[in-house]
Amino acid sequence: MSALRPEARSLPESGIVRALNYGIGRPGLIPLWAGEGDVQTPAFISDAAHRSMQAGETFYTHQRGIPELRETLSAYHRRHYGIGISAEHFFITGSGMQAVQIAMQAVAGSGDEIVIPTPAWPNYAATAHISGTRVIEVPLDFTDDGWTLDIDRLKAACGLKTKAIFINSPANPTGWCATREEVAEIAAFARKRGLWIIADEVYGRYFYEAPLAPSFLEVAEPGDRLLFVDTFSKNWAMTGWRMGWLIAPVELGATIESLIQYNSSGVAVFMQRAGVVALEQGEAFAAEQVARARAGRDLVCGRLAPLNRVHFATPRGAFYLLFSIEGEDDTDALALRLIDEANIGLAPGTAFGSGGERFMRLCFARSRESLDEAMDRLIGWLENN
Ligand SMILES: Cc1ncc(COP(=O)(O)O)c(C=O)c1O
Repeated sequence: MSALRPEARSLPESGIVRALNYGIGRPGLIPLWAGEGDVQTPAFISDAAHRSMQAGETFYTHQRGIPELRETLSAYHRRHYGIGISAEHFFITGSGMQAVQIAMQAVAGSGDEIVIPTPAWPNYAATAHISGTRVIEVPLDFTDDGWTLDIDRLKAACGLKTKAIFINSPANPTGWCATREEVAEIAAFARKRGLWIIADEVYGRYFYEAPLAPSFLEVAEPGDRLLFVDTFSKNWAMTGWRMGWLIAPVELGATIESLIQYNSSGVAVFMQRAGVVALEQGEAFAAEQVARARAGRDLVCGRLAPLNRVHFATPRGAFYLLFSIEGEDDTDALALRLIDEANIGLAPGTAFGSGGERFMRLCFARSRESLDEAMDRLIGWLENN
């Protein structure tokens, strides 16, 4: 171990993975720890991949993604955001995670800083850590109005070494969503200071107040330093496929192409064919997933709201509930106890950085029956503890 790079050797174990490794495979356990639902990829999407494989599309391909998928993404964004972004801005990546990785590799390295509101998906900080980039955390506030971001504190956290502000909205794990005004203010600040914004909007459609959450794409001006991350995972139940996309300024094309080449050398053509079908024919399916998540949110919030010991802000977006239990502050231990004693799998808030430590995260993108059963078990456990 001592012969490894310090950045690799000291990578934190993901708290989510720790709980998962402890509980995976337990008979009857209800897994609410990961960021995915319980619905399989629909056949009309999988069939497109089968057809492509059978037609022999099994060779190396365009590093930026096949032209058809990039064109289809351009049309998809025109439809949903009402904005024309030409195909040359789109890059197909091996997951949203890899889009995050490539965005970070492009803008920040050893000695640089990036600013991230927390609690946040742990993979941002870990990705920065690998490259020697320092993460400056700006904790959200847990208030009576829900999770809020103090924009002045975000601005004050940006110093001479800051290269990028990382904004995930709707946010995992808090359900925080930037307002249109906040998005515009952060974009204007970054523009003035010459900072990059890495906008992770993979939950953009999981917004419970409008069809689409306020987006950095809507306030972007030509020349803005904006890298936009999205994925096929969440809208079309494709978490296991590992395919996402990055939207970037055209001038970065050759650099991003090289970063893809030297990280993974592109995404399988047959997966990309399935991606085209998801975007073109998957509208009803995606809408159904969002409706299901909304029902899941209402169910878990409705069941937990009457309990005096449980505190949470109703999530405005994404598909997680972050809640605390009075008297249960050691959430790492609590995650393991709930596996042993209630047979439910939750993620401990310690996994998500400053401000999340005393919370537990629960994914509600699941069937009514399994959520109801999970709530029975959790509430039963609370009565005895
Ligand atoms: C906020 C956020 N961004 C990106 C991702 C990456 O998704 P994937 O790598 O499956 O595309 C996730 C997955 O949970 C996420 O929660």
